[in-house]
Amino acid sequence: MRILVTGGAGFIGSHLIDRLLLEDHEVICLDNFYTGHKRNLLKWLDHPYFELIRHDITEPIRLEVDQIYHLACPASPVHYQYNPVKTIKTNVIGTLNVLGLAKRVKARFLLASTSEVYGDPEVHPQTEDYRGNVNTIGIRSCYDEGKRVAETLSFDYYRQNDVDIRVARIFNTYGPRMLENDGRVVSNFVVQALRGIPLTIYGDGSQTRSFCYVSDLVDGLMRLMNSQHQGPINLGNPDEYTILELAQAVQQKINPSAEIRFEPLPQDDPRRRKPDITRAREWLGWQPTVPLSQGLEYTIADFRARMLTPDGVPSASLS
Ligand SMILES: NC(=O)c1ccc[n+]([C@@H]2O[C@H](COP(=O)([O-])OP(=O)(O)OC[C@H]3O[C@@H](n4cnc5c(N)ncnc54)[C@H](O)[C@@H]3O)[C@@H](O)[C@H]2O)c1
Repeated sequence: MRILVTGGAGFIGSHLIDRLLLEDHEVICLDNFYTGHKRNLLKWLDHPYFELIRHDITEPIRLEVDQIYHLACPASPVHYQYNPVKTIKTNVIGTLNVLGLAKRVKARFLLASTSEVYGDPEVHPQTEDYRGNVNTIGIRSCYDEGKRVAETLSFDYYRQNDVDIRVARIFNTYGPRMLENDGRVVSNFVVQALRGIPLTIYGDGSQTRSFCYVSDLVDGLMRLMNSQHQGPINLGNPDEYTILELAQAVQQKINPSAEIRFEPLPQDDPRRRKPDITRAREWLGWQPTVPLSQGLEYTIADFRARMLTPDGVPSASLS
């Protein structure tokens, strides 16, 4: 199959491309390199089944493909809040463009949506039927509401134009190739511990998250794409940890005497996050397999290799 991955130079997209190429698909990666990097794809650049296109998805594009994984969108608050209007354009105009392409060439389309569509949830754990508690005017809204519109567009293209859609709601995912400066909690703690500076917890650390290792997530995305289910479907690890527990786990693995520092909680930070993955289990036969402790080991090894150069400048990640 010829498969388009938008946002394929990013963290999740590049791992997905690894899997697709290993399964002998032809892959086109489209990316504007806002948060993605060519270094994530270096090993494929000369591969006969791989093409890399620098393109901003807010502009239309014509390509011949069978499947589309639509991941293009900055995922970390630091990056999506840097230019919130652009984030909305990417989610709305970008998704319109990709759905238009899917309609034209009759490609199957998978949207990488997010647990952020649940906002600060009043239902715990979150099931796909829960409609969310999102602030429409807050600093996270450009992303949260942008993804909610992207889901709406997907289902409208299905109802109105018969586009074959899949919608995945991705919960916190971590692993090698996360950016060291993107402010996501796992990368933050790992980078701080490796640099020997205090680990920063926003709030008192009692807020919870669940962390899915990237290979598990990629497996879930591919199963959903190749299933007969549209979704929306939660993909995430239901093991729930407080942020303090995560900090302590990283501390133990890198530097048991590292200091933990507490800072004020940012606006609209969700208190609890944990997917109900009954649907994923029943529909896709999917559940995460990599425990947090092991996933952290792989992630720390990758950050260590990238960061600990003599001048402190991260080197290219080829893992
Ligand atoms: N990582 C997570 O925990 C998580 C959780 C929920 C949802 N998601 C979703 O998964 C997708 C991938 O996330 P990620 O963690 O790999 O993030 P990432 O920032 O590493 O990857 C996003 C990619 O999209 C590209 N991009 C951004 N705007 C673009 C545009 N206008 N045109 C073309 N390319 C553009 C970036 O350059 C980058 O390569 C995103 O859609 C994100 O919303 C991720």
